[in-house]
Amino acid sequence: MMALVPYEPIPALSKLHDSSVKFHFANHHLHLTQDWSRLGVAAVVWDAAVVLCMYLELGQIELRGKGAIELGAGTGLVGIVAALLGAKVTITDREPAMELLRVNVRDNIPPEQQGAVVVSELTWGEGLERYPAGGYDIILGADIVYLVETFPALLRTLEHLSSDRTVVLLACRIRYDRDVAFLDMLRQSFTVEEVHYEAQRDIHIYKAVKRQSKPEL
Ligand SMILES: C[S@@+](CC[C@H](N)C(=O)[O-])C[C@H]1O[C@@H](n2cnc3c(N)ncnc32)[C@H](O)[C@@H]1O
Repeated sequence: MMALVPYEPIPALSKLHDSSVKFHFANHHLHLTQDWSRLGVAAVVWDAAVVLCMYLELGQIELRGKGAIELGAGTGLVGIVAALLGAKVTITDREPAMELLRVNVRDNIPPEQQGAVVVSELTWGEGLERYPAGGYDIILGADIVYLVETFPALLRTLEHLSSDRTVVLLACRIRYDRDVAFLDMLRQSFTVEEVHYEAQRDIHIYKAVKRQSKPEL
């Protein structure tokens, strides 16, 4: 919560306090519950999530039949849209966000598709053995690069979950030099390219693919 207030102007903050927000993605009307007063950053939909959903809708990344995991999902909008576009999705965040995530999945995924979504606790860098190494086709993250103290654990998490065929999509608003520093850290083991920029909301989408580890000589 602490890191949030300085980086948005006051008018934008007011919409964060609404108890719900509506969207239309993947031919579905979505109604996401927010709970800023209790949960802070994890309980409001950030612009990066909206832009990542718009990007997923463009269809440049095939989601149908793919296995995806969302990190730092907050309200779960991105994971929900990925599931509606045909992926099997594991939607993750820290423990306090779980209840709201389950409510939003229950309210926005049709009953016959509920089986395609799992909500699960994942604090970056912790208990990674509970998630299959290199086990996902797609890793999604919206506005998750913002706490410098979490960067090494976030990178370890991406490295654990990725194979060299996994596509990582990170939607970011670059606020500080340290955010660029994370991208530089990521480039040490991933090939990173910007695949989309939305000027109105100032959100960049980066695609990262883990480089094949060199065979031992
Ligand atoms: C700015 S919010 C973005 C939420 C959502 N992805 C969106 O764009 O609307 C950052 C999210 O990262 C999560 N987060 C922060 N540190 C984390 C950590 N160490 N492990 C897992 N999630 C974390 C927060 O709980 C929060 O949901």
